[in-house]
Amino acid sequence: MSKLDQVPEKVLGWVDERFPLTSTWKAHISEYYAPKNFNFWYFFGSLAMMVLVIQIVTGIFLTMNYKPDGNLIPGTNISVAFASVEYIMRDVAGGWVIRYMHSTGASMFFVVVYLHMFRGLIYGSYQKPRELIWIFGMMIFLCLMAEAFLGYLLPWGQMSFWGAQVIVNLFASIPVIGPDLSELIRGDFVVSDATLNRFFALHVIAVPLVLLALVVAHLVALHEVGSNNPDGVEIKKNKDPKTGIPLDGIPFHPYYTVKDIFGVSVFLVVFTAILFFAPEMGGYFLEAPNFDPADALKTPAHIAPVWYFTPFYAILRAVPSFFGSQVWGVLAMGAATMIIAALPWLDRSPVKSIRYRGPIYKFALTLFVISFLGLGYLGTQAPTTIGTILSQVLSVIYFLFFIAMPWYTKIDKTKPVPDRVTTR
Ligand code: HEM
Repeated sequence: MSKLDQVPEKVLGWVDERFPLTSTWKAHISEYYAPKNFNFWYFFGSLAMMVLVIQIVTGIFLTMNYKPDGNLIPGTNISVAFASVEYIMRDVAGGWVIRYMHSTGASMFFVVVYLHMFRGLIYGSYQKPRELIWIFGMMIFLCLMAEAFLGYLLPWGQMSFWGAQVIVNLFASIPVIGPDLSELIRGDFVVSDATLNRFFALHVIAVPLVLLALVVAHLVALHEVGSNNPDGVEIKKNKDPKTGIPLDGIPFHPYYTVKDIFGVSVFLVVFTAILFFAPEMGGYFLEAPNFDPADALKTPAHIAPVWYFTPFYAILRAVPSFFGSQVWGVLAMGAATMIIAALPWLDRSPVKSIRYRGPIYKFALTLFVISFLGLGYLGTQAPTTIGTILSQVLSVIYFLFFIAMPWYTKIDKTKPVPDRVTTR
């Protein structure tokens, strides 16, 4: 070996004496043992990380030309903020692709995260010892919802303005502190330039920082206990007595790095197809009224949030106002999101994976999926009497899935779980 060939090794040695580079790579990548039976459902964690990177990078470039200014350009009814988005779309080189990547990325983030969470439901990934991974995940989910809501105000279109109006007003229905709280969120008595400025600050720096920190905590917790898998078998229980390596584990690198690259490739085909052929996705990813500049004197005929909020929005609308207060609907909507965090303590099943669960859980989960998708659809539609009744029925099913879980998971007839993972 020539002296020149030894340089990389020497540099690495120099770094390793001062920083745990090789040991971290080994502990978390090349000698981190993951179950060998991961399937399709295990792609969504790495995909969520990739979408997070896409959002941050495209967000940085958008910020270079976007202006958080709700004031009108003199002689027009168009705000500086709205015009800056149009400028990005029409005049900035490559601006349209950056903006569509960011708006498509927002929706795809929720597609990926909802599927990632659903994987948790089918394989009982939230059960002991992974409760904290789940809790960090739920905190990520809340941040993600906040991030999407804050970002949606920025183009200062009709739906940005009126959507923010509706949601911030919900806070006003909270007894005692409500009116002051909504004023604090808006920074004004109405949604205004002050609101836009603070939403911008929160959207571009505060929430992303928290989100990143939570993703790190999520992964640290995951690597502390190790991944679950489609069989729900703990691979750490069966280790090679000589090496201490789990018998059903394979090194994350190269096996899962390569597998995840395949997942990323398939995802990017779908992502780019949407990006180039249907970035508005028929009004589901970008709503038509948001191509009109915000007008405080003209309410859109039908105000609906973007699709990823609609299951919760339908629950909000399903609850009638009692004693003239909307607060019950707001509470129901809050409870519908927070109750997901309680899953590790609601599920009393002795098995994790759906493969070994009994018919009752499978039936309950099917009903839950129907209720979630049904509520999601109803939330996109203008309210009707029949729609409201249907939303009420589906909301009850949604909540029963969680509330009755301690009971039905206990009486359900489960199948014996194998000692080792199966590969099928
Ligand atoms: C920015 C969002 C998120 C990112 C980047 C992320 C990242 C990841 C990654 C890379 C993994 C390991 C690979 C995998 O199992 O797919 C993972 C596992 C996991 N995540 Fe997430 N996650 C996110 C959001 C969530 C949310 C919202 C939840 C649930 C509320 C959640 C719950 C879990 C659980 C339970 C596991 C362990 C799964 C198992 O071992 O079977 N994550 N996450």
